Amino acid sequence: DTASMEKLVSLCKRRGFIYQSSEIYGGIGGFWDYGPLGAELKRNLREAWWRTMTRDREDVVGLDATIIMHPKIWEASGHTATFADLMRECTLTNKRVRADHVDPQSGTIIQFSGAQSPTGWKIARTIQVLIKNGEHIESFRKRVRQLIAQNAGDAAGKPEEIELLDETKLDTVEISVDFHPESGAALGPARPFNLMLKTYVGPTATEADVAYLRPETAQAIFAQFKNVLDSSRVKVPFGICQIGKAFRNEVTPKNFTFRSREFEQMELEFFIKPDEAIEIIHGAVAPWSESADLSEPQPNWGWEMWHRYWVDQRTKFYASIGLGTDVLDYYWQTNDDLAHYARACVDILFKFPFGTEELEGIAARGDFDLSQHQKHSGRPQEFFDDELKAAAAKLSDDQKEALIQKRLAAEASKTKGEPLPEPAVRAWFERLFKGNYVPHVIEPSAGLDRLALAVLSLAYNEVEKTDDKGKTETLTIMRFHPSIAPIKVGVFPLVKNKPEIVAKARSVYNALKKHLNCFYDETASIGRRYARQDEAGTPFGVTIDFDTLGEKGPELLDTVTVRERDSAAQHRVPIADLLPWLLARI
Ligand code: GAP
Repeated sequence: DTASMEKLVSLCKRRGFIYQSSEIYGGIGGFWDYGPLGAELKRNLREAWWRTMTRDREDVVGLDATIIMHPKIWEASGHTATFADLMRECTLTNKRVRADHVDPQSGTIIQFSGAQSPTGWKIARTIQVLIKNGEHIESFRKRVRQLIAQNAGDAAGKPEEIELLDETKLDTVEISVDFHPESGAALGPARPFNLMLKTYVGPTATEADVAYLRPETAQAIFAQFKNVLDSSRVKVPFGICQIGKAFRNEVTPKNFTFRSREFEQMELEFFIKPDEAIEIIHGAVAPWSESADLSEPQPNWGWEMWHRYWVDQRTKFYASIGLGTDVLDYYWQTNDDLAHYARACVDILFKFPFGTEELEGIAARGDFDLSQHQKHSGRPQEFFDDELKAAAAKLSDDQKEALIQKRLAAEASKTKGEPLPEPAVRAWFERLFKGNYVPHVIEPSAGLDRLALAVLSLAYNEVEKTDDKGKTETLTIMRFHPSIAPIKVGVFPLVKNKPEIVAKARSVYNALKKHLNCFYDETASIGRRYARQDEAGTPFGVTIDFDTLGEKGPELLDTVTVRERDSAAQHRVPIADLLPWLLARI
Protein backbone atom coordinates (compact mmCIF):
# COMPACT_ATOMS: atom_id res chain seq x y z
CA ASP A 1 0.00 0.00 0.00
CA THR A 2 2.07 2.89 -1.35
CA ALA A 3 -0.09 5.60 0.20
CA SER A 4 0.33 4.33 3.73
CA MET A 5 4.08 3.81 3.18
CA GLU A 6 4.36 7.42 2.02
CA LYS A 7 2.53 8.63 5.11
CA LEU A 8 4.72 6.52 7.35
CA VAL A 9 7.94 7.73 5.73
CA SER A 10 6.79 11.31 6.07
CA LEU A 11 5.79 10.88 9.73
CA CYS A 12 9.16 9.23 10.42
CA LYS A 13 10.96 12.27 9.10
CA ARG A 14 8.60 14.86 10.61
CA ARG A 15 8.68 13.37 14.10
CA GLY A 16 12.32 12.25 14.11
CA PHE A 17 12.05 8.49 13.85
CA ILE A 18 14.05 7.94 10.66
CA TYR A 19 15.89 10.30 8.30
CA GLN A 20 17.68 9.65 5.08
CA SER A 21 21.40 9.39 5.74
CA SER A 22 23.46 12.38 4.47
CA GLU A 23 20.26 14.05 3.36
CA ILE A 24 21.81 17.53 3.05
CA TYR A 25 24.01 16.09 0.28
CA GLY A 26 21.17 14.39 -1.50
CA GLY A 27 21.24 11.19 0.54
CA ILE A 28 23.01 7.90 -0.10
CA GLY A 29 20.97 4.93 -1.25
CA GLY A 30 20.34 2.20 1.29
CA PHE A 31 21.52 4.11 4.37
CA TRP A 32 19.24 5.53 7.07
CA ASP A 33 19.67 7.42 10.31
CA TYR A 34 17.46 7.11 13.36
CA GLY A 35 16.40 10.41 14.90
CA PRO A 36 15.65 11.09 18.58
CA LEU A 37 12.45 8.99 18.70
CA GLY A 38 13.81 6.32 16.36
CA ALA A 39 16.97 5.90 18.39
CA GLU A 40 14.88 5.27 21.53
CA LEU A 41 12.55 2.89 19.71
CA LYS A 42 15.45 0.90 18.28
CA ARG A 43 17.18 0.78 21.65
CA ASN A 44 14.00 -0.56 23.27
CA LEU A 45 13.66 -3.26 20.63
CA ARG A 46 17.32 -4.17 20.92
CA GLU A 47 17.06 -4.37 24.68
CA ALA A 48 13.86 -6.41 24.58
CA TRP A 49 15.58 -8.92 22.32
CA TRP A 50 18.75 -9.04 24.42
CA ARG A 51 16.79 -9.47 27.64
CA THR A 52 14.65 -12.29 26.23
CA MET A 53 17.46 -14.04 24.44
CA THR A 54 20.16 -14.00 27.09
CA ARG A 55 19.46 -12.22 30.41
CA ASP A 56 16.25 -14.17 31.04
CA ARG A 57 17.89 -17.46 30.10
CA GLU A 58 20.53 -19.56 31.76
CA ASP A 59 21.59 -21.25 28.52
CA VAL A 60 22.53 -18.29 26.32
CA VAL A 61 25.50 -15.92 26.62
CA GLY A 62 26.31 -12.78 24.68
CA LEU A 63 29.09 -11.67 22.36
CA ASP A 64 30.11 -8.33 20.90
CA ALA A 65 32.54 -8.90 18.04
CA THR A 66 34.16 -6.67 15.44
CA ILE A 67 32.64 -5.75 12.12
CA ILE A 68 35.87 -6.43 10.22
CA MET A 69 37.27 -9.91 10.66
CA HIS A 70 39.93 -12.04 9.04
CA PRO A 71 38.92 -12.50 5.38
CA LYS A 72 39.38 -16.26 5.76
CA ILE A 73 36.21 -16.30 7.83
CA TRP A 74 34.25 -15.43 4.70
CA GLU A 75 36.05 -18.08 2.69
CA ALA A 76 35.13 -20.69 5.29
CA SER A 77 31.52 -19.54 5.50
CA GLY A 78 31.14 -19.56 1.73
CA HIS A 79 30.37 -15.84 1.45
CA THR A 80 33.41 -15.03 -0.71
CA ALA A 81 32.41 -17.62 -3.27
CA THR A 82 28.64 -17.52 -3.23
CA PHE A 83 27.16 -14.52 -1.41
CA ALA A 84 25.96 -12.97 -4.62
CA ASP A 85 22.87 -11.71 -6.34
CA LEU A 86 22.23 -11.82 -10.03
CA MET A 87 22.42 -8.34 -11.38
CA ARG A 88 21.87 -6.55 -14.62
CA GLU A 89 23.26 -3.23 -15.59
CA CYS A 90 21.52 -0.76 -17.79
CA THR A 91 23.98 0.35 -20.47
CA LEU A 92 22.30 3.71 -20.77
CA THR A 93 22.11 4.82 -17.17
CA ASN A 94 24.48 2.38 -15.41
CA LYS A 95 21.61 1.62 -13.05
CA ARG A 96 21.58 -1.81 -11.53
CA VAL A 97 18.56 -4.02 -11.32
CA ARG A 98 18.45 -6.99 -9.01
CA ALA A 99 16.95 -10.39 -9.48
CA ASP A 100 14.24 -10.33 -6.93
CA HIS A 101 12.02 -12.17 -4.50
CA VAL A 102 8.64 -13.69 -4.79
CA ASP A 103 6.17 -14.31 -2.03
CA PRO A 104 6.53 -18.07 -1.83
CA GLN A 105 3.05 -18.66 -0.52
CA SER A 106 0.93 -16.58 -2.83
CA GLY A 107 3.37 -16.81 -5.70
CA THR A 108 3.18 -13.09 -6.33
CA ILE A 109 6.16 -10.83 -6.77
CA ILE A 110 6.48 -8.90 -3.58
CA GLN A 111 9.52 -6.85 -4.40
CA PHE A 112 10.27 -5.74 -7.85
CA SER A 113 13.41 -4.12 -9.08
CA GLY A 114 13.47 -0.85 -10.89
CA ALA A 115 10.12 0.31 -9.59
CA GLN A 116 11.63 3.00 -7.45
CA SER A 117 14.68 4.05 -9.43
CA PRO A 118 14.23 7.60 -10.69
CA THR A 119 13.88 6.51 -14.28
CA GLY A 120 12.09 3.42 -13.08
CA TRP A 121 10.51 1.17 -15.58
CA LYS A 122 11.48 3.26 -18.51
CA ILE A 123 14.97 1.84 -18.40
CA ALA A 124 14.09 -1.72 -17.56
CA ARG A 125 13.92 -4.00 -20.54
CA THR A 126 14.60 -7.36 -19.07
CA ILE A 127 13.90 -8.10 -15.47
CA GLN A 128 14.94 -11.21 -13.69
CA VAL A 129 12.65 -12.73 -11.17
CA LEU A 130 13.93 -15.27 -8.74
CA ILE A 131 11.21 -17.80 -8.28
CA LYS A 132 11.14 -19.83 -5.14
CA ASN A 133 8.16 -21.85 -6.15
CA GLY A 134 7.95 -22.49 -9.86
CA GLU A 135 4.25 -23.26 -9.90
CA HIS A 136 3.08 -19.73 -10.10
CA ILE A 137 4.50 -18.53 -13.39
CA GLU A 138 1.15 -17.31 -14.71
CA SER A 139 0.44 -15.25 -11.63
CA PHE A 140 3.93 -13.74 -11.87
CA ARG A 141 3.20 -12.59 -15.38
CA LYS A 142 -0.03 -11.02 -14.29
CA ARG A 143 1.62 -9.33 -11.33
CA VAL A 144 4.45 -8.01 -13.49
CA ARG A 145 1.91 -6.42 -15.81
CA GLN A 146 0.12 -4.84 -12.87
CA LEU A 147 3.33 -3.52 -11.38
CA ILE A 148 4.45 -2.08 -14.65
CA ALA A 149 1.10 -0.46 -15.20
CA GLN A 150 1.30 1.09 -11.72
CA ASN A 151 4.89 2.19 -11.96
CA ALA A 152 5.20 3.42 -15.50
CA GLY A 153 2.63 6.14 -15.44
CA ASP A 154 3.82 8.22 -18.34
CA ALA A 155 3.35 7.21 -21.94
CA ALA A 156 6.98 6.59 -22.77
CA GLY A 157 7.30 3.94 -20.09
CA LYS A 158 4.50 1.61 -21.11
CA PRO A 159 5.63 -1.93 -21.76
CA GLU A 160 4.49 -3.66 -24.89
CA GLU A 161 5.00 -7.29 -24.06
CA ILE A 162 6.02 -9.44 -21.19
CA GLU A 163 7.52 -12.68 -22.23
CA LEU A 164 8.80 -15.61 -20.29
CA LEU A 165 12.25 -16.39 -21.64
CA ASP A 166 13.85 -19.06 -19.67
CA GLU A 167 13.34 -21.35 -16.77
CA THR A 168 16.54 -22.85 -15.47
CA LYS A 169 17.43 -25.32 -12.79
CA LEU A 170 18.38 -22.42 -10.56
CA ASP A 171 14.68 -21.63 -10.25
CA THR A 172 15.31 -18.43 -12.11
CA VAL A 173 12.81 -17.20 -14.59
CA GLU A 174 13.49 -14.34 -16.90
CA ILE A 175 10.67 -12.08 -17.74
CA SER A 176 11.35 -9.84 -20.67
CA VAL A 177 9.61 -6.51 -20.82
CA ASP A 178 9.68 -4.73 -24.16
CA PHE A 179 9.10 -1.06 -23.84
CA HIS A 180 7.97 1.60 -26.17
CA PRO A 181 10.82 2.07 -28.69
CA GLU A 182 11.96 5.57 -27.72
CA SER A 183 12.19 4.75 -24.03
CA GLY A 184 13.84 1.36 -24.12
CA ALA A 185 17.50 0.77 -23.41
CA ALA A 186 19.09 -2.63 -23.35
CA LEU A 187 20.29 -4.04 -20.11
CA GLY A 188 23.54 -5.85 -19.93
CA PRO A 189 23.77 -9.55 -19.23
CA ALA A 190 22.88 -10.95 -15.80
CA ARG A 191 25.98 -11.61 -13.76
CA PRO A 192 26.64 -12.50 -10.15
CA PHE A 193 27.55 -9.58 -7.92
CA ASN A 194 29.09 -10.22 -4.51
CA LEU A 195 27.19 -8.37 -1.82
CA MET A 196 30.04 -8.00 0.65
CA LEU A 197 31.32 -4.47 1.12
CA LYS A 198 35.05 -4.34 0.62
CA THR A 199 37.60 -2.25 2.38
CA TYR A 200 41.36 -2.26 2.98
CA VAL A 201 43.06 -2.83 6.29
CA GLY A 202 46.49 -1.21 6.58
CA PRO A 203 48.16 1.58 4.64
CA THR A 204 48.91 -0.02 1.30
CA ALA A 205 45.43 -0.67 -0.07
CA THR A 206 46.57 -3.59 -2.20
CA GLU A 207 44.63 -6.80 -2.92
CA ALA A 208 46.49 -8.46 -0.03
CA ASP A 209 44.90 -5.97 2.37
CA VAL A 210 41.32 -6.51 1.28
CA ALA A 211 38.87 -7.09 4.11
CA TYR A 212 35.10 -7.12 4.27
CA LEU A 213 32.51 -5.49 6.45
CA ARG A 214 30.60 -8.45 7.88
CA PRO A 215 27.48 -9.35 5.89
CA GLU A 216 26.07 -11.13 8.97
CA THR A 217 26.93 -11.17 12.65
CA ALA A 218 26.65 -14.96 12.83
CA GLN A 219 30.14 -15.84 11.66
CA ALA A 220 31.83 -14.06 14.56
CA ILE A 221 29.87 -16.33 16.89
CA PHE A 222 31.15 -19.42 15.11
CA ALA A 223 34.69 -18.05 15.00
CA GLN A 224 34.61 -17.40 18.77
CA PHE A 225 32.77 -20.61 19.66
CA LYS A 226 35.83 -22.28 21.18
CA ASN A 227 36.81 -19.23 23.21
CA VAL A 228 33.33 -18.91 24.67
CA LEU A 229 33.26 -22.63 25.42
CA ASP A 230 36.64 -22.47 27.18
CA SER A 231 36.05 -19.24 29.07
CA SER A 232 32.52 -19.65 30.39
CA ARG A 233 30.74 -22.49 32.11
CA VAL A 234 28.51 -23.38 29.19
CA LYS A 235 27.63 -26.92 28.15
CA VAL A 236 25.82 -28.06 25.01
CA PRO A 237 22.94 -27.27 24.55
CA PHE A 238 23.69 -23.57 24.86
CA GLY A 239 23.61 -20.47 22.72
CA ILE A 240 25.69 -17.41 21.91
CA CYS A 241 23.86 -14.33 20.78
CA GLN A 242 24.96 -11.09 19.28
CA ILE A 243 23.48 -7.81 18.12
CA GLY A 244 25.38 -5.64 15.70
CA LYS A 245 25.77 -3.96 12.38
CA ALA A 246 25.94 -5.93 9.17
CA PHE A 247 26.58 -4.60 5.69
CA ARG A 248 25.45 -5.79 2.29
CA ASN A 249 26.01 -3.97 -0.94
CA GLU A 250 22.43 -4.63 -1.97
CA VAL A 251 21.92 -4.05 -5.67
CA THR A 252 18.58 -2.38 -5.14
CA PRO A 253 17.96 -1.24 -1.57
CA LYS A 254 14.23 -0.59 -1.26
CA ASN A 255 11.05 -0.23 0.72
CA PHE A 256 12.41 2.41 3.07
CA THR A 257 14.66 0.68 5.61
CA PHE A 258 13.44 -2.81 4.72
CA ARG A 259 16.41 -3.63 2.55
CA SER A 260 19.30 -1.38 3.48
CA ARG A 261 23.01 -1.59 2.85
CA GLU A 262 23.88 -1.01 6.49
CA PHE A 263 21.59 -2.64 9.02
CA GLU A 264 21.58 -4.29 12.39
CA GLN A 265 21.10 -7.99 13.00
CA MET A 266 20.09 -9.81 16.18
CA GLU A 267 21.30 -13.37 15.90
CA LEU A 268 21.44 -16.40 18.11
CA GLU A 269 23.47 -19.49 17.34
CA PHE A 270 22.09 -22.20 19.56
CA PHE A 271 24.41 -25.23 19.78
CA ILE A 272 22.86 -28.64 20.23
CA LYS A 273 23.95 -32.27 20.29
CA PRO A 274 23.80 -34.19 17.02
CA ASP A 275 20.76 -36.50 16.99
CA GLU A 276 23.07 -39.54 17.11
CA ALA A 277 24.41 -38.34 20.48
CA ILE A 278 20.84 -38.07 21.79
CA GLU A 279 20.14 -41.60 20.58
CA ILE A 280 23.19 -42.93 22.37
CA ILE A 281 22.44 -41.13 25.64
CA HIS A 282 18.63 -41.42 25.72
CA GLY A 283 17.90 -44.39 23.44
CA ALA A 284 15.83 -42.29 21.06
CA VAL A 285 15.20 -38.72 19.93
CA ALA A 286 11.91 -37.14 21.10
CA PRO A 287 9.56 -37.29 18.12
CA TRP A 288 8.02 -34.09 16.84
CA SER A 289 4.25 -33.80 16.61
CA GLU A 290 1.84 -30.85 16.47
CA SER A 291 0.84 -31.53 20.07
CA ALA A 292 4.42 -31.60 21.38
CA ASP A 293 4.96 -29.50 24.49
CA LEU A 294 7.55 -26.88 23.61
CA SER A 295 7.42 -24.88 26.82
CA GLU A 296 10.37 -26.51 28.56
CA PRO A 297 13.43 -27.90 26.73
CA GLN A 298 13.99 -31.61 27.34
CA PRO A 299 17.28 -33.53 27.34
CA ASN A 300 16.11 -35.91 24.62
CA TRP A 301 15.26 -33.21 22.09
CA GLY A 302 16.87 -33.55 18.70
CA TRP A 303 17.32 -30.76 16.16
CA GLU A 304 13.70 -30.80 15.01
CA MET A 305 12.28 -30.16 18.48
CA TRP A 306 14.86 -27.45 19.11
CA HIS A 307 14.01 -25.84 15.81
CA ARG A 308 10.28 -25.82 16.62
CA TYR A 309 11.07 -24.62 20.11
CA TRP A 310 12.89 -21.57 18.77
CA VAL A 311 10.09 -20.78 16.31
CA ASP A 312 7.75 -20.88 19.31
CA GLN A 313 10.06 -18.75 21.48
CA ARG A 314 10.45 -16.15 18.76
CA THR A 315 6.69 -16.05 18.22
CA LYS A 316 6.25 -15.40 21.94
CA PHE A 317 8.83 -12.64 21.77
CA TYR A 318 6.97 -10.93 18.94
CA ALA A 319 3.70 -11.22 20.86
CA SER A 320 5.36 -9.60 23.89
CA ILE A 321 6.07 -6.44 21.89
CA GLY A 322 2.68 -6.31 20.22
CA LEU A 323 3.23 -8.36 17.06
CA GLY A 324 0.66 -11.12 17.38
CA THR A 325 0.11 -13.99 14.99
CA ASP A 326 -2.55 -11.90 13.20
CA VAL A 327 0.21 -9.75 11.70
CA LEU A 328 2.77 -12.51 11.26
CA ASP A 329 2.99 -15.33 8.82
CA TYR A 330 5.29 -18.33 8.54
CA TYR A 331 6.94 -19.73 5.50
CA TRP A 332 8.44 -23.17 5.91
CA GLN A 333 11.05 -23.45 3.20
CA THR A 334 10.61 -26.44 0.94
CA ASN A 335 13.41 -28.83 0.14
CA ASP A 336 14.07 -26.85 -3.03
CA ASP A 337 14.43 -23.56 -1.16
CA LEU A 338 16.86 -24.87 1.41
CA ALA A 339 20.58 -24.28 1.20
CA HIS A 340 22.33 -27.66 1.01
CA TYR A 341 23.62 -27.43 4.59
CA ALA A 342 20.25 -26.42 6.06
CA ARG A 343 17.89 -29.09 7.31
CA ALA A 344 14.96 -26.76 7.77
CA CYS A 345 14.31 -23.07 7.70
CA VAL A 346 11.24 -21.10 8.57
CA ASP A 347 10.85 -17.45 7.73
CA ILE A 348 8.75 -15.38 10.10
CA LEU A 349 7.02 -12.87 7.87
CA PHE A 350 5.33 -9.61 8.74
CA LYS A 351 2.47 -8.01 6.86
CA PHE A 352 4.22 -4.79 5.79
CA PRO A 353 2.22 -2.18 3.83
CA PHE A 354 4.20 -3.18 0.72
CA GLY A 355 3.59 -6.90 1.18
CA THR A 356 4.18 -9.83 3.48
CA GLU A 357 7.94 -9.99 3.92
CA GLU A 358 10.64 -11.67 5.98
CA LEU A 359 11.32 -10.35 9.44
CA GLU A 360 13.42 -13.22 10.68
CA GLY A 361 14.74 -16.56 9.49
CA ILE A 362 15.09 -19.54 11.82
CA ALA A 363 17.37 -22.13 10.31
CA ALA A 364 18.57 -25.55 11.39
CA ARG A 365 22.10 -25.43 10.00
CA GLY A 366 23.49 -28.79 11.09
CA ASP A 367 27.22 -28.62 11.88
CA PHE A 368 28.04 -26.82 8.65
CA ASP A 369 29.50 -23.60 10.03
CA LEU A 370 31.66 -24.96 12.83
CA SER A 371 32.89 -27.78 10.58
CA GLN A 372 33.84 -25.28 7.89
CA HIS A 373 35.83 -23.24 10.41
CA GLN A 374 37.44 -26.40 11.74
CA LYS A 375 38.50 -27.29 8.21
CA HIS A 376 39.70 -23.81 7.22
CA SER A 377 41.42 -22.85 10.47
CA GLY A 378 42.80 -26.28 11.32
CA ARG A 379 41.58 -25.76 14.92
CA PRO A 380 39.16 -28.31 16.38
CA GLN A 381 35.69 -26.88 17.03
CA GLU A 382 34.46 -29.81 19.09
CA PHE A 383 32.66 -30.14 22.36
CA PHE A 384 33.63 -32.97 24.69
CA ASP A 385 30.55 -34.54 26.23
CA ASP A 386 31.33 -36.81 29.20
CA GLU A 387 27.73 -38.02 29.44
CA LEU A 388 27.93 -39.14 25.82
CA LYS A 389 31.25 -40.86 26.36
CA ALA A 390 29.88 -42.81 29.33
CA ALA A 391 26.72 -43.80 27.41
CA ALA A 392 28.69 -44.85 24.32
CA ALA A 393 30.96 -47.04 26.47
CA LYS A 394 27.91 -49.15 27.31
CA LEU A 395 26.99 -49.83 23.68
CA SER A 396 27.79 -53.19 22.11
CA ASP A 397 29.72 -53.30 18.82
CA ASP A 398 26.48 -54.33 17.07
CA GLN A 399 24.61 -51.36 18.45
CA LYS A 400 27.40 -49.06 17.31
CA GLU A 401 27.43 -50.64 13.85
CA ALA A 402 23.64 -50.24 13.61
CA LEU A 403 24.00 -46.48 14.25
CA ILE A 404 26.72 -46.25 11.60
CA GLN A 405 24.60 -48.14 9.06
CA LYS A 406 21.62 -45.87 9.71
CA ARG A 407 23.74 -42.81 9.05
CA LEU A 408 25.27 -44.34 5.89
CA ALA A 409 21.76 -44.97 4.56
CA ALA A 410 20.82 -41.36 5.32
CA GLU A 411 23.93 -40.12 3.51
CA ALA A 412 23.13 -42.31 0.50
CA SER A 413 19.62 -40.88 0.21
CA LYS A 414 20.75 -37.22 0.44
CA THR A 415 19.14 -35.08 -2.24
CA LYS A 416 21.33 -32.03 -1.64
CA GLY A 417 25.06 -31.59 -1.11
CA GLU A 418 27.71 -34.27 -1.23
CA PRO A 419 27.03 -37.41 0.81
CA LEU A 420 29.78 -38.13 3.33
CA PRO A 421 31.92 -41.05 2.15
CA GLU A 422 31.95 -44.14 4.39
CA PRO A 423 35.45 -43.60 5.86
CA ALA A 424 34.48 -40.08 6.92
CA VAL A 425 31.25 -41.36 8.50
CA ARG A 426 33.19 -44.03 10.42
CA ALA A 427 35.80 -41.51 11.56
CA TRP A 428 32.99 -39.20 12.76
CA PHE A 429 31.40 -42.03 14.81
CA GLU A 430 34.76 -42.98 16.24
CA ARG A 431 35.09 -39.47 17.72
CA LEU A 432 31.42 -39.45 18.73
CA PHE A 433 31.79 -42.69 20.72
CA LYS A 434 34.65 -41.00 22.59
CA GLY A 435 32.34 -38.10 23.48
CA ASN A 436 33.51 -35.58 20.86
CA TYR A 437 31.37 -33.82 18.32
CA VAL A 438 31.02 -30.56 16.46
CA PRO A 439 27.71 -29.19 17.76
CA HIS A 440 24.78 -28.63 15.46
CA VAL A 441 23.15 -25.24 15.24
CA ILE A 442 19.70 -23.68 15.33
CA GLU A 443 19.88 -20.06 14.22
CA PRO A 444 17.13 -17.51 14.83
CA SER A 445 18.33 -14.49 12.85
CA ALA A 446 16.36 -11.25 12.94
CA GLY A 447 16.83 -7.77 11.52
CA LEU A 448 16.51 -4.92 14.00
CA ASP A 449 15.72 -2.33 11.34
CA ARG A 450 13.05 -4.55 9.84
CA LEU A 451 11.56 -5.03 13.26
CA ALA A 452 11.57 -1.26 13.82
CA LEU A 453 9.85 -0.80 10.47
CA ALA A 454 7.31 -3.49 11.35
CA VAL A 455 6.38 -1.90 14.68
CA LEU A 456 6.26 1.55 13.10
CA SER A 457 3.91 0.41 10.37
CA LEU A 458 1.74 -1.54 12.80
CA ALA A 459 1.59 1.40 15.23
CA TYR A 460 0.55 3.90 12.57
CA ASN A 461 -3.10 4.89 12.98
CA GLU A 462 -5.13 7.85 11.85
CA VAL A 463 -8.19 9.16 13.65
CA GLU A 464 -10.63 11.88 12.67
CA LYS A 465 -11.23 14.42 15.40
CA THR A 466 -13.89 17.11 15.43
CA ASP A 467 -13.35 20.06 17.77
CA ASP A 468 -16.01 22.18 19.60
CA LYS A 469 -16.36 24.42 16.54
CA GLY A 470 -17.15 21.43 14.33
CA LYS A 471 -13.77 21.52 12.58
CA THR A 472 -12.48 18.04 11.70
CA GLU A 473 -8.82 17.15 11.51
CA THR A 474 -6.94 13.92 10.97
CA LEU A 475 -4.62 13.01 13.81
CA THR A 476 -1.95 10.35 13.80
CA ILE A 477 -1.62 8.04 16.76
CA MET A 478 1.36 5.72 16.97
CA ARG A 479 0.00 2.81 18.97
CA PHE A 480 3.29 1.22 20.06
CA HIS A 481 3.19 -1.51 22.66
CA PRO A 482 4.09 0.40 25.87
CA SER A 483 7.18 -1.76 26.44
CA ILE A 484 8.84 -0.49 23.26
CA ALA A 485 7.39 3.03 23.00
CA PRO A 486 10.23 5.58 22.66
CA ILE A 487 8.76 7.84 25.33
CA LYS A 488 6.73 6.21 28.09
CA VAL A 489 5.21 9.23 29.78
CA GLY A 490 4.50 12.82 28.89
CA VAL A 491 4.41 15.17 31.90
CA PHE A 492 2.30 18.28 31.52
CA PRO A 493 1.56 21.18 33.87
CA LEU A 494 -2.00 22.19 32.98
CA VAL A 495 -0.90 25.83 32.77
CA LYS A 496 2.55 27.35 32.67
CA ASN A 497 1.77 30.60 34.49
CA LYS A 498 1.06 29.10 37.88
CA PRO A 499 4.45 28.52 39.56
CA GLU A 500 3.12 25.93 42.04
CA ILE A 501 1.75 23.76 39.22
CA VAL A 502 4.96 24.05 37.20
CA ALA A 503 7.08 23.22 40.24
CA LYS A 504 4.94 20.17 41.02
CA ALA A 505 5.09 19.03 37.40
CA ARG A 506 8.90 19.40 37.33
CA SER A 507 9.19 17.37 40.51
CA VAL A 508 6.97 14.60 39.10
CA TYR A 509 9.04 14.63 35.91
CA ASN A 510 12.34 14.53 37.82
CA ALA A 511 11.17 11.59 39.90
CA LEU A 512 9.84 9.59 36.92
CA LYS A 513 12.71 10.19 34.54
CA LYS A 514 15.10 8.18 36.67
CA HIS A 515 13.03 5.11 35.81
CA LEU A 516 11.28 5.83 32.52
CA ASN A 517 11.94 7.85 29.40
CA CYS A 518 9.74 10.90 29.99
CA PHE A 519 8.99 14.06 28.08
CA TYR A 520 8.17 17.34 29.78
CA ASP A 521 6.00 19.73 27.80
CA GLU A 522 4.41 22.97 28.98
CA THR A 523 3.73 24.72 25.67
CA ALA A 524 0.36 24.94 23.85
CA SER A 525 -3.04 23.73 24.97
CA ILE A 526 -3.28 20.45 26.83
CA GLY A 527 -5.13 18.91 23.85
CA ARG A 528 -2.24 19.87 21.53
CA ARG A 529 0.26 18.40 23.93
CA TYR A 530 -1.68 15.13 24.10
CA ALA A 531 -1.85 15.06 20.31
CA ARG A 532 1.92 15.59 19.99
CA GLN A 533 2.58 12.68 22.32
CA ASP A 534 0.02 10.52 20.49
CA GLU A 535 2.04 11.11 17.36
CA ALA A 536 5.23 10.11 19.15
CA GLY A 537 3.46 7.00 20.44
CA THR A 538 3.72 7.90 24.14
CA PRO A 539 1.33 5.54 25.97
CA PHE A 540 0.69 7.72 29.05
CA GLY A 541 0.28 11.41 29.75
CA VAL A 542 0.38 12.84 33.27
CA THR A 543 -1.27 16.21 33.91
CA ILE A 544 -0.67 18.28 37.00
CA ASP A 545 -3.57 20.66 37.58
CA PHE A 546 -5.22 22.86 40.18
CA ASP A 547 -6.68 19.79 41.89
CA THR A 548 -3.14 18.50 42.44
CA LEU A 549 -2.56 21.55 44.61
CA GLY A 550 -5.63 20.66 46.66
CA GLU A 551 -7.64 23.61 45.40
CA LYS A 552 -10.81 21.51 45.04
CA GLY A 553 -10.38 19.84 48.37
CA PRO A 554 -7.90 17.73 50.29
CA GLU A 555 -8.98 14.41 48.74
CA LEU A 556 -7.40 15.31 45.37
CA LEU A 557 -4.27 16.87 46.89
CA ASP A 558 -1.13 15.40 45.32
CA THR A 559 -3.03 13.36 42.76
CA VAL A 560 -2.58 13.67 39.00
CA THR A 561 -4.58 12.77 35.91
CA VAL A 562 -3.10 9.96 33.86
CA ARG A 563 -4.42 9.74 30.31
CA GLU A 564 -4.07 6.56 28.28
CA ARG A 565 -3.09 7.07 24.66
CA ASP A 566 -5.15 4.27 23.14
CA SER A 567 -8.44 4.66 24.99
CA ALA A 568 -8.08 8.31 26.01
CA ALA A 569 -9.37 7.07 29.40
CA GLN A 570 -8.34 9.21 32.35
CA HIS A 571 -7.44 8.02 35.83
CA ARG A 572 -6.78 10.00 38.99
CA VAL A 573 -3.65 8.59 40.61
CA PRO A 574 -1.83 9.73 43.76
CA ILE A 575 1.69 10.95 42.95
CA ALA A 576 3.04 8.52 45.53
CA ASP A 577 1.57 5.58 43.53
CA LEU A 578 2.37 6.94 40.09
CA LEU A 579 5.60 5.09 39.34
CA PRO A 580 4.31 1.61 40.29
CA TRP A 581 1.02 2.39 38.48
CA LEU A 582 2.95 3.17 35.29
CA LEU A 583 5.48 0.36 35.62
CA ALA A 584 2.68 -2.18 35.98
CA ARG A 585 1.34 -1.07 32.60
CA ILE A 586 4.68 -0.80 30.79
N1 GAP B 1 22.98 -15.51 9.54
C1 GAP B 1 21.82 -15.69 8.71
C2 GAP B 1 21.45 -14.52 7.95
O1 GAP B 1 22.15 -13.52 7.90
P1 GAP B 1 19.56 -13.56 6.39
O2 GAP B 1 18.21 -14.12 6.08
O3 GAP B 1 20.43 -13.19 5.25
O4 GAP B 1 20.25 -14.65 7.33
C3 GAP B 1 18.73 -12.42 8.55
O5 GAP B 1 19.39 -12.30 7.32
C4 GAP B 1 17.86 -11.21 8.81
O6 GAP B 1 18.61 -10.01 8.66
C5 GAP B 1 16.70 -11.07 7.82
O7 GAP B 1 15.59 -11.84 8.21
C6 GAP B 1 16.41 -9.58 7.91
O8 GAP B 1 15.59 -9.30 9.01
C7 GAP B 1 17.78 -8.99 8.14
N2 GAP B 1 18.34 -8.47 6.88
C8 GAP B 1 18.99 -9.16 5.94
N3 GAP B 1 19.35 -8.36 4.91
C9 GAP B 1 18.89 -7.12 5.22
C10 GAP B 1 18.96 -5.83 4.58
N4 GAP B 1 19.58 -5.66 3.43
N5 GAP B 1 18.38 -4.78 5.20
C11 GAP B 1 17.76 -4.93 6.38
N6 GAP B 1 17.69 -6.10 7.03
C12 GAP B 1 18.25 -7.19 6.47
